[in-house]
Amino acid sequence: MNPEQVVVFGAESFSSLAWYCLTHDSPFQVVAFTVDRAYVRSPTHHSLPVIPFEELENHFPPGTVRLLIPLGYHSINGLRRQRYEAAQRKGYQFISYISSRASTWPDLQVGQNCLVYEGAIIQPFARVGNNVIIRSAAHISHHCVVADHAFVAAGVTLGGNVRVGEQSFIGVGAVLRDGLTIAERSFIGAGAVVVADTQPDGVYVGNPARRMGKSALEASGGR
Ligand SMILES: CC(C)(COP(=O)(O)OP(=O)(O)OC[C@H]1O[C@@H](n2cnc3c(N)ncnc32)[C@H](O)[C@@H]1OP(=O)(O)O)[C@@H](O)C(=O)NCCC(=O)NCCS
Repeated sequence: MNPEQVVVFGAESFSSLAWYCLTHDSPFQVVAFTVDRAYVRSPTHHSLPVIPFEELENHFPPGTVRLLIPLGYHSINGLRRQRYEAAQRKGYQFISYISSRASTWPDLQVGQNCLVYEGAIIQPFARVGNNVIIRSAAHISHHCVVADHAFVAAGVTLGGNVRVGEQSFIGVGAVLRDGLTIAERSFIGAGAVVVADTQPDGVYVGNPARRMGKSALEASGGR
């Protein structure tokens, strides 16, 4: 197969992880990295060029490559959302990476610019939107909906029919009772056991999960 060429956004650990997985576990060939000009620290990353995002189209025009933007949950996933939408405005299309070691079924519904890592389980009738990250060993039960720009950390368990709202972050090892609605931009802390619906922009920790004083934006490094 002729490998399809991809540019990865970022030049730090999370983009290194995506580069490694694409290189060893996909038909795609990473040809460059791109970051905002202010964050270019080195001309290369993993021996590939690092191109300022502002001038990416001069080096790799839309239509010649697709992008993957594996940014984390900074600013309650707002940073990844902004760069994804900026790349869309430039005319780029995106790939998604689904690990060969993830457990999925025919008719898998996963949008663009998604990463689904090893050991994740996505059951039949679950739906994953665009620009979503599902980390290792997360369990997405049947009929769950994970909306655009969300981030589901490693080892999370979503019971059946859970709806994870846009831009929400579900922390490592959290458990969400079946049928819940997690509001947009909710931040669920590591290890939380969520037994009731959440409010937008809230941070929830503990078992049973309770709302903390700070906002999801503050909890995720934004201002
Ligand atoms: C919720 C969270 C953002 C709070 O971080 P923080 O604002 O720095 O909070 P602090 O560490 O100052 O803790 C404040 C209080 O909340 C408690 N707390 C913090 N996180 C908690 C959690 N996940 N569960 C239960 N209690 C928690 C602390 O014990 C502390 O309690 P105290 O005031 O009684 O001492 C953070 O702990 C968290 O869970 N982040 C998610 C990490 C994650 O899942 N990463 C995945 C990477 S892929």
